[in-house]
Amino acid sequence: MQDEAATQVRAWVEYFRDLGVHDFYRNGEPVEPAVTEADETLSVSATSATTEAVPGEVPQVVAVAAASEVIPAIPVVAAAPPPVATPSSVTPALRLVSFNQLAPLPTAKLPAGERAAALRAIQEEIGDCTRCPLAYAGRHKIVFGDGSPAARLMFIGEGPGADEDIQGLPFVGKAGQLLNNMIGAMGLSRTDVYIANIVKCRPPGNRVPEPIEANTCSPFLLRQIDVVQPEVIVALGATAAMYLLGVKQSLSSLRGRWHTCRGAKLAVTYHPAFLLRDPRQKAEAWKDLQMVMATLGLTSPAKK
Ligand code: URA
Repeated sequence: MQDEAATQVRAWVEYFRDLGVHDFYRNGEPVEPAVTEADETLSVSATSATTEAVPGEVPQVVAVAAASEVIPAIPVVAAAPPPVATPSSVTPALRLVSFNQLAPLPTAKLPAGERAAALRAIQEEIGDCTRCPLAYAGRHKIVFGDGSPAARLMFIGEGPGADEDIQGLPFVGKAGQLLNNMIGAMGLSRTDVYIANIVKCRPPGNRVPEPIEANTCSPFLLRQIDVVQPEVIVALGATAAMYLLGVKQSLSSLRGRWHTCRGAKLAVTYHPAFLLRDPRQKAEAWKDLQMVMATLGLTSPAKK
């Protein structure tokens, strides 16, 4: 009975989280104002970035806590859990930095024939990663990314779930099946697009990645984007949008218009897992995908 109630509460938490209702579970943690940028322009103020951009090099981007912030006292508990996946209540707020601000934008496209090798090099550099707590939180496989290195369209989700963690591939569970259908409805197949996530290791219990985890993983995703250089990126859900754009806003305020990310046009839509929970929103998601299709000159197979 208690389990059932917990499952229901969790489902509601995930429902609101997918809508971009951030942090309501964080129990009073101070909310760091987002460092934002005008979506229309790529010019950014260097003063707001927390890392120094070195041309040709992707900085290790770990956003830093403001010096004036006081780290809340850690509550004393009898049997403290192991220091894995630090609870957000003891994590100082981190500054959000958009992917456009993390490193200089690429100035040239890598020839299509060199991209697979470039992606492999990034994967090799990641290796058997232990850079963040997710490495010690029950991870089985690192989920690097999947699809065409020359894709015009890239989907970015939040982080691997249980199925992805076992198979080492993004979006292969139930949400993945729905994403496949969405891609199919656009007249494409999975091998035409590139799919990746904000974090490459499964957050325990499918919780939202903590900022320290997302920020540690971001430089690799950023480099994947810069190698593939898609024309359009679709951010799946509020978490992906938040980290890619460096803004903390509701999904509804981000949908239905274009943003920019690493030289690509970026659209925000519902996460497929959210659509599984609330299928009524599929029509809205389809509107988002139609916006993408119009830009890429794609026609739905239903209309052919
Ligand atoms: N959800 C995600 O955000 N990514 C996956 O790869 C699978 C489920």
